[in-house]
Amino acid sequence: MNCKSLLLTGLALAAVACGQPPQKTSDIPVYLDDAQPLEARVEDAFSRLTLDEKIAMVHAQSKFSSPGVPRLGIPEVWCTDGPHGIRAEVLWDEWDQAGWTNDSITAFPALSGLAATWDRELSHLYGKSIGEEARYRNKTVLLGPGVNIYRFPLNGRNFEYMGEDPYLAGEMVVPYVEGVQSNGVAVCVKHFALNNSEVNRHVANTIVDDRTLYEIYLPAFKAAVQKGHAWSVMAAYNLYNNQYLCSNEVLLDKILRGEWGFDGVVISDWGGVHNTLQTAKHGVDLEYGSWTDGLTMGKTNAYDSYYLAEPYKEAIQKGEIGTEELDARAKRILRLIFRTAMNRNRPFGSQTSPEHYAAARKIGAESIVLLKNDGGVLPMKAPKKILVVGENAVKMMTVGGGSSSLKAKLEVSPLDGIKARYPEAEVVWERGYVGDTGGEYNGVSTGQDLRESRSAETLIADAVKAAEGADYVIFVGGLNKADRQDSEGLDRVQYGLPYGQDAVIEALAAATEKLIVVNISGNAVAMPWVEKVPAIVQDWYLGTQAGHSLADVLSGDVNPSGHLPFTIPVSYADNPVRTEKQYPGILRGSTIDGMPVMDMEYTEGIFVGYRWYDKNGGVLFPFGYGLSYTTFEFGEPRIDRKSMKENGTVTVTVPVTNTGAVAGSEVVQLYIADVEASVDRPVKELKGFAKVALEPGQKADVSFTIGKDALSFFDAEKHAWVAEKGIFRAIVAASAADVKGTVEFELK
Ligand code: BGC
Repeated sequence: MNCKSLLLTGLALAAVACGQPPQKTSDIPVYLDDAQPLEARVEDAFSRLTLDEKIAMVHAQSKFSSPGVPRLGIPEVWCTDGPHGIRAEVLWDEWDQAGWTNDSITAFPALSGLAATWDRELSHLYGKSIGEEARYRNKTVLLGPGVNIYRFPLNGRNFEYMGEDPYLAGEMVVPYVEGVQSNGVAVCVKHFALNNSEVNRHVANTIVDDRTLYEIYLPAFKAAVQKGHAWSVMAAYNLYNNQYLCSNEVLLDKILRGEWGFDGVVISDWGGVHNTLQTAKHGVDLEYGSWTDGLTMGKTNAYDSYYLAEPYKEAIQKGEIGTEELDARAKRILRLIFRTAMNRNRPFGSQTSPEHYAAARKIGAESIVLLKNDGGVLPMKAPKKILVVGENAVKMMTVGGGSSSLKAKLEVSPLDGIKARYPEAEVVWERGYVGDTGGEYNGVSTGQDLRESRSAETLIADAVKAAEGADYVIFVGGLNKADRQDSEGLDRVQYGLPYGQDAVIEALAAATEKLIVVNISGNAVAMPWVEKVPAIVQDWYLGTQAGHSLADVLSGDVNPSGHLPFTIPVSYADNPVRTEKQYPGILRGSTIDGMPVMDMEYTEGIFVGYRWYDKNGGVLFPFGYGLSYTTFEFGEPRIDRKSMKENGTVTVTVPVTNTGAVAGSEVVQLYIADVEASVDRPVKELKGFAKVALEPGQKADVSFTIGKDALSFFDAEKHAWVAEKGIFRAIVAASAADVKGTVEFELK
């Protein structure tokens, strides 16, 4: 802080900025006085800004920061990825890590795993914990969470999102947002919107009808903004309505700022801005990541030549655009800074604390989904010899995958987690297959040497041989964070497991009856061997405590309670996105902002996830599905009234009993079906869920109260949510395919 320059703006201001207590309260300028209402501070600070200061605020000054107002003692905005841990510090103008030695963090479970907990409290714990790490590192904005809907199983970034259902994602995102922001760190909910695949993300123009947009792709964002009060949102790379998302009139102006009343900052995805005037009129508040080959020394390819830098100022000076939009931007950015960096009461934060490790382990364990457990293979009972097979048992997964890549202080592998849990047992590892031997991302390296000289056949033969005499064989495979797996920028190229893993699983299944397949991925994969394997576990990228979380579940220390946040179809042909038109889209002859355009049509409409499979079949493991080491019995659901008035509610209650021998948690799901509708409606839609923990023999009543919104569809013609009078069915279920009971009621 330069105290001399501050003296020019007033003695009291200088005193505050230099850390001395002011003489009288009234001497403090309104914007520096946090006893004043937020809007009064914004207006006061705004009234002091020059045109150049406003222009400076609306674009980046480095890879991840943008200026505040140094003259007024208003600090810079510092962003960080997001969304599973705090990214390593990078060089000023580069993606490469800066090489700090104090920026190693806790890697939390990927958001697909968080969604699989179906636990709002754990989502809050996650947000609070990651927010503390962001705060400790003095970040203003955490670039996450991501809530793009899981549209199909090839999207390379599905692991960063919260599954296929807008209600589940909407319910899970709100506590995350609240948890992060309780630290005085803003979330940046991304990627707004319709960024449901990676290939062509910079040129894909999504064609989607309004009903689908409002019912499927917007609700989670809306919940983050209206219920979670998110302070920033990231505009996506792709196009909608022939406009880039970063300058999109409908999504940013009309819906986000207009219909939802968002008063926070819209930040561009890195390099997502493509023009000055359209962006200035309708687009993002803050431009980040446009290409530069230098700093702000000259105007060629430097931050000064960003679309919202000198070109914006020139457009204003030439009268091509007024200052109204710039003023609104400056106010929104000031509001963000007052809520965060200039909130003197925010806590200090912490990094890699024991509490964060415990949170990561707990969330991880609660996220793991037990898909199959024939003959009660799991939990493992007093094993003397365990054979672990597969690259994913040892491969570090926190490095790679794109912008969510991390520099974790610790990553416990599945193999190490199992060894730690069974110190008495002989635990042997066999490679089984060779997947990705890389281990470096933007200068952060795993330090692992995964090179292998044996042939695929030998690897299988060696694994089968090692299975002799093993009490359990645990295959740990799946996808990884390499390109074309679960990774940003590109999508998967096949639904089946890569690297010949199916052959390894088949060979092991023939060799042992105690085979446990652990699939680590953020996406559904084909399981052609499903009938031959007695136990299957869906695991996720669980970060720092990955191995401990897995061992907690395999051993029964934690009774599995994760439920799938997406459907696992039998084959790719069963999924709703199958034509070129739907994905990757059709190249158009013309360009927009000098870029080619691919039209990607969401012709499947609202029939995404179980909404599709409910009508078309092809499900291997349904949405909402997950087994436990105990059993639950659902009683008859009852309803408190037979009819709902226009402005009323109904409450559905179902008794659930733990009928097994161990304590466990069940995810009780409430779906609603519109029995007779004037439009094509899904067979049912999730409108409530509760995770209930029960001791053996314990019974609990689980209640859901729903209002008219749970009955509504989006009527595009009226541009309104409509609930039609008539009969509705409340469906209590343990997954989208496991209905436990129904009750009907009428909307009068
Ligand atoms: C990603 C964002 C990320 C940003 C900054 C972009 O490529 O799409 O999710 O936050 O980079 O790293």
